[in-house]
Amino acid sequence: MQKRDAIRAIKERLKLVDIARRYVELKRNGLRWMAPCPFHQETKPSFSINEDTGLFYCFGCQASGDLFDFYGRINGLDFRECLEQLAVEAGIELGTLQDGSSAGDGAGPQRRHSERQQILRMYELAAAHYAQNLAGAGGVACRAYIERRGVDKEQVERFGLGYALPEWRDLVDVLRRSGCDESLAVKSGLLGQSNKGGYSRTYDRFRGRLIFPIRNLSNQVIAFGGRIIGNEDEAKYINSADSTIYKKGDQLYALSQARRHIAVKGTVLLTEGYMDVLTLHQFGYEHAVGVLGTALTSEQVKRLSGFTSQVTLLFDGDTAGRKAAQRACGLLLPRGIACKVVLLPHGQDVDELLHGQGGEAFEKLLAAAPDGLRFCLETVKRHMAPREAVIWARDFLKDLVELPELYYQFASSLAHALNLSEAELKGGVIARQKGAVAPGKGIASSGAGGTGLDFERQILRFMARYPHRCQDLQEAGADVFLRTSRGRNLWKKFFAHPADEIQYHLDEQEKAFWMRCRTGEAPPLDNEEGERVPLLRKIAALHKRMVSSSVAAALRGAAGTDDFTADMEYIVALRETQRTDDE
Ligand code: UTP
Ligand code: MN
Repeated sequence: MQKRDAIRAIKERLKLVDIARRYVELKRNGLRWMAPCPFHQETKPSFSINEDTGLFYCFGCQASGDLFDFYGRINGLDFRECLEQLAVEAGIELGTLQDGSSAGDGAGPQRRHSERQQILRMYELAAAHYAQNLAGAGGVACRAYIERRGVDKEQVERFGLGYALPEWRDLVDVLRRSGCDESLAVKSGLLGQSNKGGYSRTYDRFRGRLIFPIRNLSNQVIAFGGRIIGNEDEAKYINSADSTIYKKGDQLYALSQARRHIAVKGTVLLTEGYMDVLTLHQFGYEHAVGVLGTALTSEQVKRLSGFTSQVTLLFDGDTAGRKAAQRACGLLLPRGIACKVVLLPHGQDVDELLHGQGGEAFEKLLAAAPDGLRFCLETVKRHMAPREAVIWARDFLKDLVELPELYYQFASSLAHALNLSEAELKGGVIARQKGAVAPGKGIASSGAGGTGLDFERQILRFMARYPHRCQDLQEAGADVFLRTSRGRNLWKKFFAHPADEIQYHLDEQEKAFWMRCRTGEAPPLDNEEGERVPLLRKIAALHKRMVSSSVAAALRGAAGTDDFTADMEYIVALRETQRTDDE
């Protein structure tokens, strides 16, 4: 089956409104359904679903999309997982999925799909084998280690812990006996490969290590973390490399075990280490997940935000931990996710704290934890050089420009903390944006009339609304009026992807724009000619004028602005759209 057909078939049988109703309380409001948004913290209903288009949109946090976006976001699933689960709900047999798009790497979609299946199978085999090792005669040392670390049997079971024997060809043999493709095993990071004397040999990458399986939300093993036991000379942990089935920054350790508890408790504990997660669960904090040895990523935040809008960060109390926490707050707060920060007493991690001092000591820390904004303000004031602090504050506010409510709240607190006047700080952010569209800079207001950002937006807006008409605009030469790099990128995307798939290829900002052109307060899509004819007429008129006054040269010159300015221009443009849409 073609992916495109599967999407269409699922959408025919499952309606966004019906699925969404399971998660939010929808109330009818004219042509739309409204509810408090499940993707950011709020009480008033900003979340709306348009039954005709099958799209949702939140006026508060700009979350937007179709059935798949909603389902994926609320359940923290990637697109493929969504497709699989929704197909089951819709009673559609996916069979072998064809990708539809052409694969750039030369491997056909068919092959890539079966590659995925094969790697999943190898990880499943390996996980079972490692668990068997742990339980067997060869696992004595590892069992002793686990006991010494105070991990109980229940956690060993729940997390499917295992042991990789200190041998070079243990897993190699297991995979070989099961008829696995060894080159794939190497590619997926399970095996290593050495080339000595012209011979290529595979060997076990994980040796003499306690194994932590990492599962996706469909509960499939997709990677391992392995902690060294005994031999202190080697790296403490090694992890599976990224593969067809695993991308490090996209996953959270133990999310599949914790998801239900997160949803019930309405909050999540986010920590750094494998062992910390295990110990938290053992002490009854079953809503704990791990970031898997990276700085928190926006992809991980997106996953979490499907389950909860409240996060407690547990970080080391040293400078690095504080920085990491500050950075994490910068990712969470602008998305309307409330957070709290626990910095652990110096040199200790949660695992040591819980085992050493018990749950009560941890509860005390939790109770005393400042909320994210207060934590950031304090860090900005006490732990950062002024210049660094101002830069952080401005970057932070920059991420907030599309959330006016939060923006003004944070801006005044930050200004206060930094001893700046609000105007100065806000000015810093807003002036930079204004500067980007200031008269005299480009030709926006230098007599060319309507060839500025407004016009760029008008062009892209029409394309978003009537994708089957993009060709017309191209033939009319509308692209010379695109002034920002973001605008030109979006234009390219409109041509690169079929209309019914375009939204899966847009980044957050583009998608918000795209949505706003088609839903929310946008006029109904029933006046195509009425919109197309005047637009083409305007393009033609401008072209004429351009030639005579060589504005074209000026335009092309202005188009060479650096990306930062262009990005800011686009944000301003988006805000303007939002305003006109809201009027
Ligand atoms: P830590 O060094 O704090 O280890 O790394 P830990 O989790 O406390 O482990 P124990 O208690 O000594 O057994 C925190 C996390 O960073 C990642 C792992 O995810 C680890 O749990 N990490 C650390 C690596 O990926 N590689 C390393 O070499 C070290
Ligand atoms: Mn530790």
